[in-house]
Amino acid sequence: MAKKIIATLADSTLFLREWIANPLRTGSVAPSSPQLAAAMSKWLPKDPESYVLELGPGTGAVTLALLEHGLREDRLIAIEHNENLAKLLRKRFPRAHIIAGDAWKLDTLLAELPHSVTTVGAVISSLPLLNFKLEEAEALGQKIRNVLEPHGNWVQYSYRIHHRRSRGSSTFKLRASKIVWLNLPPARVSVFHK
Ligand SMILES: C[S@@+](CC[C@H](N)C(=O)[O-])C[C@H]1O[C@@H](n2cnc3c(N)ncnc32)[C@H](O)[C@@H]1O
Repeated sequence: MAKKIIATLADSTLFLREWIANPLRTGSVAPSSPQLAAAMSKWLPKDPESYVLELGPGTGAVTLALLEHGLREDRLIAIEHNENLAKLLRKRFPRAHIIAGDAWKLDTLLAELPHSVTTVGAVISSLPLLNFKLEEAEALGQKIRNVLEPHGNWVQYSYRIHHRRSRGSSTFKLRASKIVWLNLPPARVSVFHK
């Protein structure tokens, strides 16, 4: 228990430091709560062989919940822009494919993996899309659309809790949307499909 509290405090301190260094890109002052991470993790693909692509994993709060919900570590691909955070994630999740890079290049980054991945069963994104222009968010939405399997889900959280649709999702259908109050700040999890 004490170990878990120390780890949580260390993650929160690291997160805050990265936020101070680059607030717009980090997008939040603290890692997601276990409640928000659990709400994101409910939407894993049914096929255990399918890959899951996580965008903006940060210190791994959502990553851990995905694995606790049954995702095989070797089926997880995560793209994190911040090199320090990517390094930490590699230590924490040694069998996952942790890529230090830009989510907007996801197509190239997936193709460059040793076994070249062309489709994924779910995209789980914590990217701070509100800090990006609408056209940029739509361009990312298009790339997510191209890589998702036909029944795949794109799960995105946002702090703009009064909007059910996330920025960039205009060509997707909305499958579900709910507010998670137990998070700092409260967040809305929305799920999209093609
Ligand atoms: C709001 S934090 C979420 C972190 C973590 N998933 C959580 O929920 O606690 C957003 C994360 O997205 C990352 N990020 C921002 N822009 C990115 C980009 N273009 N490509 C990949 N990651 C990015 C940030 O470095 C940060 O770790």
